[in-house]
Amino acid sequence: MNINAVIKEIHEEIKPLIGKGKVADYIPALANTDPNKFGMAVVTTDGEEFITGDVKSRFSIQSISKVYTLAQAFAIEGENIWRRAGREPSGNAFNSLVQLEHEQGFPRNPFINAGALVITDILLTRLNDPYADILQFIRTLAGNRTINYDKEIAQSERENGYRNAAMVNLLKSHNNIEGNVEEVLNLYFNHCSIKMNTLELARSFLFLANQGRQPSQTKAYLTKSQAKRLNALMLTCGTYDEAGDFAFRVGLPGKSGVGGGIAAIIPEKLSVAVWSPALNKKGNSLAGMQALELFTTKTGISVF
Ligand code: DON
Repeated sequence: MNINAVIKEIHEEIKPLIGKGKVADYIPALANTDPNKFGMAVVTTDGEEFITGDVKSRFSIQSISKVYTLAQAFAIEGENIWRRAGREPSGNAFNSLVQLEHEQGFPRNPFINAGALVITDILLTRLNDPYADILQFIRTLAGNRTINYDKEIAQSERENGYRNAAMVNLLKSHNNIEGNVEEVLNLYFNHCSIKMNTLELARSFLFLANQGRQPSQTKAYLTKSQAKRLNALMLTCGTYDEAGDFAFRVGLPGKSGVGGGIAAIIPEKLSVAVWSPALNKKGNSLAGMQALELFTTKTGISVF
């Protein structure tokens, strides 16, 4: 199969959709992002790489960071993490508070904000140097030591993160946060602010397509079973209240962020990342979703 030709064809076909939708502006530092950007990268477990569009510009990965933090917490805590968060899709917006109140501070899954805040709390209280350790993990996965936090974006979210503040306080009232609420929020806003480009994102996800180990490295970050579970969670919860539609249209485990990135994997084969900052109503990249749908349709490969 000629993946290079396929992604070039996809890029042509989705051009009318690029810029359609709305750039996330509830984090003011993201509001001025150029909506007309598009990049797509495919990296195979055999070490081949295919790119189209702008795969070099870094953007804020936002909720995609929740995959790395979950992987780290899962590696540290094992099955104990399910005492703190569930494994069911929420059917609600990623920042909804209602369900958390109803369900006594037990987040539906680790990818909605409430669950991700609990995972951040685990890393805050377990890692020696959480800021450095999270960054180091992502840099190692992506193979680039210049990946970093974006202080301006983290600060902008901190100044406007009232819903996340409410959520972490509600979690704390149910004894589901061990650390200091301000410290949990700060670490969370920082890991969401991390900037990567589309190719780095695709490279960094390859361990999930390869049973927990980067094909070019010897260390396994997750067991085969943990990688399977993390992928199952991405499929059912990775795109929030659009996870059903994402599974229906794309048919891959994937994770989105309000920076306009989406990263997905096909077990044993490849990882694929797309970036286009204008979002649909559910907060997922509009052109990015269409590009991924075309990718599995044209190649005929998905998990189904
Ligand atoms: O907490 C927030 O609202 C953001 N830092 C992350 C949200 C996000 O990326 C949801 N993704 N679609």
